[in-house]
Amino acid sequence: MPRLVLTPSKPASVLVIDDDPQIRQLIARLLQPAGYRIEEAGSAREGLEKLRTSPPDLILLDMQLPDRSGHDLLTEIRSEPRTRLTPVVMITGAASHSHKLKAIQAGVTDFLAKPFSPEELSARVRALVELKFVTDALEDAEEVIVSLARTIDARDRYTYGHSARVSLYAGLLGRRIGLAGRQLETVERGGLFHDFGKIAIRDNVLLKPGSLTAEESAEIQRHPTEGRDLLRNMKTLSDALDVVYYHHEKMDGSGYPTGLSGEAIPLVARVTTIGDIFDALTTARVYRGALSRERALGIMDEEVREGWWDGRLLAEFKGVLETLPEDDPRLTRLLT
Ligand SMILES: [Fe+2]
Ligand SMILES: [Fe+2]
Repeated sequence: MPRLVLTPSKPASVLVIDDDPQIRQLIARLLQPAGYRIEEAGSAREGLEKLRTSPPDLILLDMQLPDRSGHDLLTEIRSEPRTRLTPVVMITGAASHSHKLKAIQAGVTDFLAKPFSPEELSARVRALVELKFVTDALEDAEEVIVSLARTIDARDRYTYGHSARVSLYAGLLGRRIGLAGRQLETVERGGLFHDFGKIAIRDNVLLKPGSLTAEESAEIQRHPTEGRDLLRNMKTLSDALDVVYYHHEKMDGSGYPTGLSGEAIPLVARVTTIGDIFDALTTARVYRGALSRERALGIMDEEVREGWWDGRLLAEFKGVLETLPEDDPRLTRLLT
């Protein structure tokens, strides 16, 4: 497999946060000739200031600073979205085991014990900066994917914002029933990508205002399979594939594409389906105007009796709606 070639557009930057000016100068002297841009901070406050104005590619952090402990500063660095994934190397003297453990818990990437050799410093820095560029490239790729997901909605003015709202509904419902971590992420991402396969459906079928022929319906019904096949190789979306593939299944087995029934339909897909149907009913379509929430829930209640949707999830979803008024900014933002 060809190696990923990373060509950052500007020299890598390293922020050294250490109250000892000699250490800062030594590090600068060692790294500058190798092409790194060095920023220095003599205190935690100064360090935070620099992190805000220009986030570096790597942070070298002293364990003891005059105004705060390095651990506290590290915790703050990790809680900030912009520096959440920035590698942080902690410079330690004779650090005790418990100090190191605390740093690991706070999210340190590596340690560098004083005194360090120039070779050791540059080897560590080089490896971690490269890692940072890989992480950046992956984050960029993820942004591309998310914008791609938005294009599905943009294609049809009637479904504009649909995927983002489904993701919001599914996330809130998921949280309410106790999903957390990876499962919660799956319903949120799944919501965003559930209709991705519509990319493969022709405009004259997808946007047709009148009723569809049997053949056209069959084409639309291919979107869960198309979506799964298109996204199959995206490792970051592998969990969400269950949502993409199973979001049109029904509890009584009369859905598509597999006809799976009951709890054999993955929970993450059943959760997303509730949000999907509710959003479809409460927004305008070519063939009808938007229904009120009450009317939509009434229809969904009937469909639960019919054997289509998971009734327990629908009951929980009603609870979600009580905390999500129609003019909630999280929703209205998605309507414009
Ligand atoms: Fe769909
Ligand atoms: Fe949908």
